[in-house]
Amino acid sequence: MGLDKRVRPNVRDIQRYQPGEDHPGAVKLSSNENPRGPHPKIVAAVMKALEESHRYPESGAPDLTRALAAYHHVTPDEIVVGNGSNEIIDLLVRAFVEPPHESVVFPVPSFIVYGLIPKICGCQGVGIPCRDYRLDLPAMRAAVDAHTRMVFICNPNNPTSTYVSAIEVDAFMHGLPNDVLVVLDEAYIDYVDAHDFPDAMALHRKHRNIVVLRTFSKFFAVAGVRVGYAIADPVVIDAVHKVRQPFNVSRLAQAAGLGALACAQDLQPYARETIAERKRVRDAILELGLACPPSQANFVFVDLGSSSLDLFAELMQRGVVVRRLGQFGATSNTYRITVGTPDENDRLIGALRDVFHHRPAASRPTSR
Ligand SMILES: Cc1ncc(COP(=O)(O)O)c(C=O)c1O
Repeated sequence: MGLDKRVRPNVRDIQRYQPGEDHPGAVKLSSNENPRGPHPKIVAAVMKALEESHRYPESGAPDLTRALAAYHHVTPDEIVVGNGSNEIIDLLVRAFVEPPHESVVFPVPSFIVYGLIPKICGCQGVGIPCRDYRLDLPAMRAAVDAHTRMVFICNPNNPTSTYVSAIEVDAFMHGLPNDVLVVLDEAYIDYVDAHDFPDAMALHRKHRNIVVLRTFSKFFAVAGVRVGYAIADPVVIDAVHKVRQPFNVSRLAQAAGLGALACAQDLQPYARETIAERKRVRDAILELGLACPPSQANFVFVDLGSSSLDLFAELMQRGVVVRRLGQFGATSNTYRITVGTPDENDRLIGALRDVFHHRPAASRPTSR
């Protein structure tokens, strides 16, 4: 029998994760990164850690865990650090969802990894379509049954950029069995300015089954170092520790996390800049008659509906790389565009105007 037949059937069928593309010389708006780069204090902390890199990192990232506990006003046994929040998604599913019958409910389109991990683990993934670019929480709630062990709520949602409110999440939690974990993935929390956004920490205090997921990859601009964390009940945290690898968070990543917390205040102006730029980018997109839901993240979502225009290729020709969304499970012709620096956004807006002003009006998609 060939080796290919020995690959587990679930794994054989998986399409490899396709990251946002990067092309030399082009503006990269494809991976929701922070274009400002890491703060010098973070760089200094990582450089210092490099000097000790002949030593294994401390298992369980105890210093960063304590610092995060103080930052969030919880106890260290309510925090676990991961090799990006990506890893924690994997660890949670492996620790709590028994294959083959137990299941994970997640929105579609949303972060690809929610569907990927259950598939790899051989448990059930139940994808619930978004409605008007928003998570359909009532439908997700209705999908919870006796097999459901975990639900992912991506808030704001990647890639549609919208959010669900505190009232909506409260309604979702109402009557939910308290042994179903509800993972509030808040990778983009620092770009939220909606007043009715849920207070995840208050939800964590109220419900033992809430898991709050955060990352240092976006606002703190260290996506390349890989560090994220979860805040949850100590029972959940302990289970995640049991399934993680002994040295899952590198010495450099632990130092980056500590450095990042120390300069959180210094970074606030950049988040404000991104929020202002997001409005400018979205307004320019709406002006072109395209559908673009209001965003609470550091990216916008563009829906060309049934148009056959390949916006990725058109923008690429003009030196701007955005994200195609086929792998996200989006049904129509959609794209995700990261909000860059003002200069990068000028290039994007110029390129978009160039694309659409050169198209006959009849073939232009119209906004919904
Ligand atoms: C919603 C969401 N969750 C988690 C992640 C993973 O972040 P990390 O870099 O911490 O693994 C991303 C990254 O893009 C994301 O969009």
